[in-house]
Amino acid sequence: MSPTKLVIGNWKMNGSAGLVKEFAALAKGDWPACDAALCVPYPLLAVAQGAFAVSPLRWGAQDCSAESDGAFTGEVSARMIRDFGARYVIVGHSERRSGHADTDGHVAGKAQRALAAGLTPIVCVGEKAEERDGNQTAMVLRRQLLQLVRTLGRGLGSIVIAYEPVWAIGSGHPAPPGLIDDAHRCISEILAFHAGTSATAVRILYGGSVSPGNAEAIMSCRHVSGVLVGQASLAPTAFLDICKAAELCQTAGLAAPAAQTIGT
Ligand code: PGA
Repeated sequence: MSPTKLVIGNWKMNGSAGLVKEFAALAKGDWPACDAALCVPYPLLAVAQGAFAVSPLRWGAQDCSAESDGAFTGEVSARMIRDFGARYVIVGHSERRSGHADTDGHVAGKAQRALAAGLTPIVCVGEKAEERDGNQTAMVLRRQLLQLVRTLGRGLGSIVIAYEPVWAIGSGHPAPPGLIDDAHRCISEILAFHAGTSATAVRILYGGSVSPGNAEAIMSCRHVSGVLVGQASLAPTAFLDICKAAELCQTAGLAAPAAQTIGT
């Protein structure tokens, strides 16, 4: 697993061409040595491509179709996203799973299309509050990941996973670091057990109310390779501060170790 932390902004249905340009102007200065990208709404991909062409910031989209092309009105293919120079695409965000009926099968299909197009899929997984309260977190994560392992095979090594407990998203209250680290370890173990060595390269991000005030504590967790940031990614200086925290965690030698194979 790369020791370089990864910070991804998820703008959701927010932002503007002007905001992309504000980020580009800020990134002309000293930018921390982490990997960083903004996943913007589709109409802003072309703006990001122009504004971030010579910037440390990368860009991506927030969803793609599970189909390659054809009569799918309103859908956008992974290849179209890649044509705008994007590096990443988020798939399986809980807002797509709950509001747009994305199943584990759809999510795996989207990740497969993204990989085929040369994009890095950021696959979101995570339990709802009632599943957490019923001690079902590990079971939910296993269910969400197994379809992915079956569909992607060796391609699994090229994806990013984002652990986003649904109850922490947009709440202002991130999961406690101990719980985050346990969930990330659980994800590493599930992947290593079912996918073997191809899983060791997978970076696992945390998402859910990440802010400049908690980013360092979260990224100091042993199994956390970075963060997926919603609300705080809309403020250029807040996003910069989160990237500074990522760099700090890297240089402190707190990068996540490779996933271990477990014996069960
Ligand atoms: P939040 O969103 O940081 O605003 O909680 C995270 C996400 O939904 O990816």
